[in-house]
Amino acid sequence: MAREKKINYYDNIAQIYDRTRWLTESVAEEVADFILKLVCATPETSFLEPGVGTGLNVLPFVKRGYSVTGIDISSEMLAQFRQKFNETPQNLKLIHADASHLPFLDNSFDVVLTVHMLHFVSDWRAFLDDINRVLKPGGFYLNCQWITPPARKEFEDYFRAILAKYEGGKQESKRINAIIQEIDVEEYFYGRGVKSNYFIAKEWTVKNTVRELLSFLKSRAYGLCWQVPDEMFNEIMNELEEFCIKHYGSLEEVLSSEAKFEIWAYRAV
Ligand SMILES: C[S@@+](CC[C@H](N)C(=O)[O-])C[C@H]1O[C@@H](n2cnc3c(N)ncnc32)[C@H](O)[C@@H]1O
Repeated sequence: MAREKKINYYDNIAQIYDRTRWLTESVAEEVADFILKLVCATPETSFLEPGVGTGLNVLPFVKRGYSVTGIDISSEMLAQFRQKFNETPQNLKLIHADASHLPFLDNSFDVVLTVHMLHFVSDWRAFLDDINRVLKPGGFYLNCQWITPPARKEFEDYFRAILAKYEGGKQESKRINAIIQEIDVEEYFYGRGVKSNYFIAKEWTVKNTVRELLSFLKSRAYGLCWQVPDEMFNEIMNELEEFCIKHYGSLEEVLSSEAKFEIWAYRAV
């Protein structure tokens, strides 16, 4: 019997991932400076990022010669990461696998970071157990996020509102509920006697024209558009464009707002 191929949407958007997000290389360099200080890095410090994607977060560590391991379920996202080098550096190991089970020995890494990926694993508590297992004693787990800047979020909310109208308001919430599980990392670690330290590693301004944001949505770069049927999607995009011309005055209007790179840091005991 033919084995069903598991579809990963990130394979479809790997080529446009970096330009439709807002963490730039220079911001990532500054975030890396912050993290290196936070974990008191030495040249031997090793990093693991499950759900590493195109490597936006860890590229600076690779460039600076630290040992970096990345796992991702999407071969295309990993291919995009590899393309950032003429040849894969010796200090970078990329593994194509489901990170729900980390294929490493106990006490393997000094730092594990996750960025926008906890909601993808099959059992987030078991996954955090596994992260604890592969961390060396005294190592750091960094639960990170760079959330959607408010002006972009507001723009996406207009898309959501039109989508809800087309779907009678039910489908999207069903989809979102299916994707978003209740994840409480703080409570998980608190139960193990570990408290977090919260940091804003970097704040920066993100600017896009309305036309750019429309084109990102048209390319279905974000989860909120992935499951909308083609015909409905085209109608929604036409309506959104008309709305934007009225609401913003012009598609060349620049939307600007502040993004943050947030870190909740936990120390393995
Ligand atoms: C929102 S992207 C984040 C990528 C990267 N961490 C970043 O911040 O740019 C989520 C990534 O997790 C990967 N992913 C999803 N489920 C996964 C799993 N079970 N195991 C490994 N990677 C997974 C996706 O392929 C994608 O590259």
